[in-house]
Amino acid sequence: CVLETDLVDAKTEFGFVTREFRPRESCRECRRGDRNDSINDILDDVTIDNYDMGRRKSRIVVTGNTYDFHEAFKEFGGRFVRDLEDREGSGWVFKIKNRGGLITLLQKEKKIAEKVEEKRSGCEKCNGELDEVKKFNMMFKVGIGPEEEEAYLRPETCQSIFVDFPRLFKTMRGKLPIGIAQVGKSFRNEIAPRQSLLRLREFYQAEIEVFCNPTKLDDLEKFSEVENTTLRIQLDEEVKKITCKEAIESGIIPNKFVAYYLAVLSEFYEKTGINMEQSRFRKLGEKEKAFYAEIAFDFEVKTTIGWLELVACNYRSDYDLSSHANKSKEKFQVMDNDEKVLPHVFEISMGIDRSLYCILEHSYRDDKENERVVLSIKPYLAPVHVGVLSLVKKDGLAEKTDEIYLQIKTKFDSFLDHSGAIGRRYRRLDEIGAPFAITIDHQTKEDNTVTIRSRDSMNQDRVKITELEAILSKETGYP
Ligand code: GLY
Repeated sequence: CVLETDLVDAKTEFGFVTREFRPRESCRECRRGDRNDSINDILDDVTIDNYDMGRRKSRIVVTGNTYDFHEAFKEFGGRFVRDLEDREGSGWVFKIKNRGGLITLLQKEKKIAEKVEEKRSGCEKCNGELDEVKKFNMMFKVGIGPEEEEAYLRPETCQSIFVDFPRLFKTMRGKLPIGIAQVGKSFRNEIAPRQSLLRLREFYQAEIEVFCNPTKLDDLEKFSEVENTTLRIQLDEEVKKITCKEAIESGIIPNKFVAYYLAVLSEFYEKTGINMEQSRFRKLGEKEKAFYAEIAFDFEVKTTIGWLELVACNYRSDYDLSSHANKSKEKFQVMDNDEKVLPHVFEISMGIDRSLYCILEHSYRDDKENERVVLSIKPYLAPVHVGVLSLVKKDGLAEKTDEIYLQIKTKFDSFLDHSGAIGRRYRRLDEIGAPFAITIDHQTKEDNTVTIRSRDSMNQDRVKITELEAILSKETGYP
């Protein structure tokens, strides 16, 4: 329990809140609000004079202003520093790991607003005058319990996986590499939610964290299962088709471990019905990557509104485990055979709402030839598997249809429809993506057969009622 509390505290302390602060600005005329990411330019050039933690005399110099490095280091646990390189003549250059931390530091000094002020012009949309720059928290603050204790809704599902990792590994008698997934809602205080499922404040994530031994990234037997799997990778201007093996050999993907999971992800999305010819993995550069990522690929899909990022694939190294360990003073190392390791993590962070949008758009067809619109969604994903229709209501056909419907609906998502012209009923089912329609006609009463119509081919076959369940099970199962 203590461990749990400590780790939960650690989660907040280690920067979840501060990291999520962003400067925002809004237009006085049209009230359009936006994140001001021009702050990134300001933060790009941070130098530290006389880096010497022992003697605590370092200074951070940010665009000409000097800050006490030790004070900052103490406050932010040094986490805004990723790696350093020597820049001749001007001391050390640090890459910023925790921009949020540094932003907060700068905000204290009231520098952000001035800096942003210098850079910005009018509103992008209407050219109106911009309001002053304000700070806002991308996490949702809530009050828990009678004392309304301060807490924040999670902005990603993965952190509890990291916190729970040692216990999960132990209780599951885990072995590296091991994947742990969590599916659920996350919450981000987006300034401008828009485009229906694409930009939401409450959204659905499925995150898979694969823990591995960092010294064994190319020691993965199951890589042979995917070595010939083709990936579509964005290289310079074009998307190139390349096998996993070639991607490793050419250095486009740094190791077999990452390649394996990109291949698995690609195979998964292919099965959702997304047109993979309209997809790509895009390797993110230093400026685009999240602060915790050493290597990052976005899985993107082309839609009528442009390329959409569906999955962020981040090699997070030991960023999370070591951060939680540092704050909680708990141990996160595990045994890999005889070796004690602090695992590294490859994360596959899927946006479910966005994926759903792309699946719907890629499945939607305007079939002019047959005067219908069709949602050719994969049968296993279809919200309605089968329509159950009586050809006419009279002559006892409605009763027989009800009987079959009651039988089928316990196993399949079914829709009963007695009324209207049969052609129009088929069209309605096509439109909502029901892959099959069963029709009960006069022959049904004679020989216990029905017709089963396929949405995509529009072909109809006559089958025995007793065969329906087996046919539907086979056709609506996971491919
Ligand atoms: N866990 C990564 C993300 O939510 O973006």
